[in-house]
Amino acid sequence: MYDLIAPALMRMEPEASHDFAIASLRLASALQLDRLAAPPTLDPVELMGLRFPNRVGLAAGLDKNADAFEMLGALGFGFVEVGTVTPRPQRGNARPRLFRLPEARALINRMGFNNLGLDHLLRRVENRRYDGVLGINIGKNKDTPTERALEDYVAGLEAVHAWADYVTLNVSSPNTPGLRDLQLGPPLDALLDGIAVARTRLAEREGSRTPLLVKIAPDLHDDDVKGIAERLVAKGIDGVIASNTTLARPGIEHLAASNEIGGLSGPPLHERCLEVLRCIRGTVGDALTLIGVGGIDSGGRARAARQAGADLVQIYTGFVYRGPALIREIARDLRGSRVDSPLPRRP
Ligand SMILES: Cc1cc2nc3c(=O)[nH]c(=O)nc-3n(C[C@H](O)[C@H](O)[C@H](O)COP(=O)(O)O)c2cc1C
Repeated sequence: MYDLIAPALMRMEPEASHDFAIASLRLASALQLDRLAAPPTLDPVELMGLRFPNRVGLAAGLDKNADAFEMLGALGFGFVEVGTVTPRPQRGNARPRLFRLPEARALINRMGFNNLGLDHLLRRVENRRYDGVLGINIGKNKDTPTERALEDYVAGLEAVHAWADYVTLNVSSPNTPGLRDLQLGPPLDALLDGIAVARTRLAEREGSRTPLLVKIAPDLHDDDVKGIAERLVAKGIDGVIASNTTLARPGIEHLAASNEIGGLSGPPLHERCLEVLRCIRGTVGDALTLIGVGGIDSGGRARAARQAGADLVQIYTGFVYRGPALIREIARDLRGSRVDSPLPRRP
């Protein structure tokens, strides 16, 4: 089916094609077509106290407003992450802001957290039908100064805590000025300490603790990646998502669209993601759940991410180019897979 509609989607302007796809999935959700879907490929795994039917998830950013997650979930994903959502709605950067690099099966985007805000997302996820694992990815508004970022993350966490199976703190989008500064040193400590206080309060109020992950950038020195991983363990974070898009242009400098400002995703990002995964695994062993994302567009690349240390994988750009068939291909290929390298023990 996707093979039939893909050529038409690829001829449309990239963001128009995305909006059309989300609107179609939303309509299918409203018609409850998700109820007719085949069950996902089964390769169950338990991590962070959650049971994932298989190890393949949808990465954040495709369904920013949680408009279509019921239908996306029915395509066979083991888990779906919606967002990034910011407390207040915001328009994001001026269009055009999404570019295809078909020769590299890659994308460059500078969306800038365009989203309809927490209230809209909550209306969508309250009373959800989807009984798979739902992650909600939260961020800060562009006009919130970086020094007050904690307030936005706490507002996001408080709002979604009861509805999410896990929450992701996105501190790594390259398209919100200053956001990536929250990944390092004192700003990271302040964020994690503030979040820890809010989490304790929420866990007491709601009687349950929602797993919390942090999504990091690939454009960090390995020493910084190690430092971040150690801090996350120390502050009680459950997992890391590695990684967001890159500002680098590895191997694609010759393509015209590579001059566009924004984050690059797809295969050119893959090798760096594997390095980041290995670096985190090598530093903290099994103390964090690791979600590998970046350029995974085949079962082979998903296995490489597993071997580099990922417990779970996510896809975005590969899903855009290859469609839903990729989900089952990866889920089948990962069945029974193991992390090859011996893991250091929990520090
Ligand atoms: C158009 C677009 C929008 C994205 N928006 C978000 C976002 O809102 N939040 C986020 O955490 N990641 C976002 N991402 C990053 C993806 O979730 C993923 O980390 C990245 O694209 C690498 O994976 P891939 O190579 O499979 O695409 C976005 C990616 C793309 C291409």
